[in-house]
Amino acid sequence: MNDTMKLEEEIKRLKKEKNAVILAHNYQLPEVQDIADFTGDSLALSQEAADTEADIIVFCGVHFMAETASIISPDKKVLIPDEKAGCSLADTINAEQLKSWKKENPNSVVVSYVNTTAEVKALSDYCCTSANAVHIVNSIPEDKEILFLPDMFLGAYAAKVTGRKIDIWPGECHVHAGIRKQDLDDMQHTHPEAEMIVHPECGCTTNLLYQAENGASTNGNGNGNGHIKFLSTGGMLKHAKESPSKEFIIATETGMLHRLRKDNPDKVFHPARESAVCKYMKMITLPKVLRSLEEEIVEVKVPLDIALQAKKSIDRMLEITS
Ligand code: 13P
Ligand code: SF4
Repeated sequence: MNDTMKLEEEIKRLKKEKNAVILAHNYQLPEVQDIADFTGDSLALSQEAADTEADIIVFCGVHFMAETASIISPDKKVLIPDEKAGCSLADTINAEQLKSWKKENPNSVVVSYVNTTAEVKALSDYCCTSANAVHIVNSIPEDKEILFLPDMFLGAYAAKVTGRKIDIWPGECHVHAGIRKQDLDDMQHTHPEAEMIVHPECGCTTNLLYQAENGASTNGNGNGNGHIKFLSTGGMLKHAKESPSKEFIIATETGMLHRLRKDNPDKVFHPARESAVCKYMKMITLPKVLRSLEEEIVEVKVPLDIALQAKKSIDRMLEITS
């Protein structure tokens, strides 16, 4: 038995002994995804955290995701194997900044992407993920003004698809913002038959939507038959399985490729940009997962008053999308 196999065996044994569940985001290292009980996008992971019967959730993802799980399941022990696994996008807005933005726009409704701290969620009316941003915006009465934060590309995407006027916070994820239209043009040139699938956090999103408006085919909301699809990481998995295409260009963090290839061995997947790697996601390793289970560290807890407020925006999202 090699070292990795020993680690995996020990993780499985402890998981059973402690009635723990391992949840992993689609960007995690392949070996971490493979040991997980459940892998998924931010929305699916929140739903899984809400439904699990386990006593302990080992959250293999970034801090805001573990925080969300803890807010949804306050009676469970939520552990993150490395508490330094943050998110550069969530760091673009803090509670003080949101308070002043709200003050300037007292009649607006606040929609916060799940990539935010618990404090920011507590000041928000609705939470959303990339899988349901359009759906959430559409559920808000037409006469309401909307503040969307913190991702400007996802915000612009939601505004374009819904036709709503939305005030958008100028935040971005350094990994996705780095995926530019030129990357996709180059890849499309090299792989002309490939279907393009794009995460709406990408820096190329606005340009692609503009291009679509001027003749190129996109599906707009991820449900059509166009050549470019804008999808959450969970949506990418579903679509790749169902599509008759045999070759795809994937514009998102490269961790996504592991599951796509595993689930579709007869199809070919190319990353739009090889260097699109989230260093925070990759901080979670198998030895850290084992240590987390052994020592029950690092527990993620949100102060009760903030958790209760934040939960309202998350529950609203889960109700709308269930
Ligand atoms: P998904 O909700 O599509 O998994 O995206 C989460 C994320 O952090 C993207 O960078
Ligand atoms: Fe945050 Fe970007 Fe990493 Fe997603 S890929 S966790 S948005 S830094």
